[in-house]
Amino acid sequence: MLQEAIPDLAKYVEPDRVRREVYTDPDIFELEMQRIHEKVWIYCGHETQVPKAGDYYTVQIGRQPMLMVRASDGSIHVLYNRCPHRGNMMCGDRKGNAGEFFRCSYHAWTFQHDGRLRSIPMMESGYSGTPLNKESPDCSMKRAARVENYRGFVFASLAKDGPTLKEFLGKAIVAFDDMCDRAPEGKVEIVPTCFRVIQHSNWKIFLENQLDALHPSVTHQSTGRAAHEVEKEIAKRTKKGEAPLSYHMLSAFATVTIDKWDAFQTINYPYGHCILTGYMGLRPQDPDTKAYDQVMIKAYGQKRFEEIVGVNIHHVLIYPGLSVQSQLQQLRAVRPLSVDKTLTEIWHFRLKDAPEAIYRRSLAYYNLVNSPSTLINADDLENFWKCHQGLSSDGGKWVSFARHLGRDLEKDGVVETAPNCGTSEAPMRNQMKAWAEYMRG
Ligand code: FES
Ligand SMILES: [Fe+2]
Repeated sequence: MLQEAIPDLAKYVEPDRVRREVYTDPDIFELEMQRIHEKVWIYCGHETQVPKAGDYYTVQIGRQPMLMVRASDGSIHVLYNRCPHRGNMMCGDRKGNAGEFFRCSYHAWTFQHDGRLRSIPMMESGYSGTPLNKESPDCSMKRAARVENYRGFVFASLAKDGPTLKEFLGKAIVAFDDMCDRAPEGKVEIVPTCFRVIQHSNWKIFLENQLDALHPSVTHQSTGRAAHEVEKEIAKRTKKGEAPLSYHMLSAFATVTIDKWDAFQTINYPYGHCILTGYMGLRPQDPDTKAYDQVMIKAYGQKRFEEIVGVNIHHVLIYPGLSVQSQLQQLRAVRPLSVDKTLTEIWHFRLKDAPEAIYRRSLAYYNLVNSPSTLINADDLENFWKCHQGLSSDGGKWVSFARHLGRDLEKDGVVETAPNCGTSEAPMRNQMKAWAEYMRG
């Protein structure tokens, strides 16, 4: 049916440009949910969101409302948030504890944490002679086809076939290794609440922005400049001539000018994933960092410590729904709601057993750069909305991704941007290449 509505998808995507309908056509959105979000590995949450038996967290995968839940044997399950009886949503709250089992609020069917039916009121008398019995799958909550946990990060796929999580992530798995390895215990804990922002724009606009190295020094210039002015004032007044590090998180948007962004590099992988290298100078020599370094050296030894803190990543994008800044313990999950509405969940993490000051740094970045209350995020949100408005008009047919086209270095399916082409639109070309492959089915 949809296929008939979109007879020739190929005409929508060229190597360096994309038709505007890709962002605005509701039929294309439906097909994207079927062929991309409800097939591939989607991040559900971190295991520390559900520490105790019965703890659950709701999560949207494509169009499907799902539940991530901890069972009493410690295992984590991902279930459709739907009662098999008459379809009632099992958990109406965003998160909570189901107790020893799920109990539907409508007719009290109950279920184990893994979704298996536990009881139906007066089942014997009510269902003898019917096709339904305790073992029948129609009486259990449906599970996600596949669930995998990598270092505490739980993913689900609603398709029973496909690459394993590790195969799917490929080199982008570094996002989780880099984040966890920076903890003395090799583990992170989620801060169990997040900002949720509904953007009035298509989900791809957000993802394309994540590794768009050209935009920060333009879009965020005014914020960066203002922060830099204050930073200089404070520095003048202090003995050492330095302002707190958090000012740098903002002023970098002005001091790292466009030409400097070109010195960074993007590495583009199969399935649309991408890494932006470069480092915002966050290995300073302040007392907090030095104290952290000592804890890490004690835990890992000097050699391994150098390897860990030497990982050169600014940002990892895991297509089609995750943006990770491992060095600052930030993660943003993208949940498309409709063709012009996108939910982003903005999370941050604590490095287990690292000094509190390192957590405060992560929290500062979370609040100053990624939260909806910062000017940085507000700058981006306005662009996203304006992009969607412009794309909904008849003012043009195409979106261009031609910057530095033809200068990419490709080897074994991995596309690296050439030296001094960090502002290349290669990540968007790579995402749309993956999009087209998924959409062809
Ligand atoms: S709808 Fe859940 S028990 Fe009836
Ligand atoms: Fe931005």
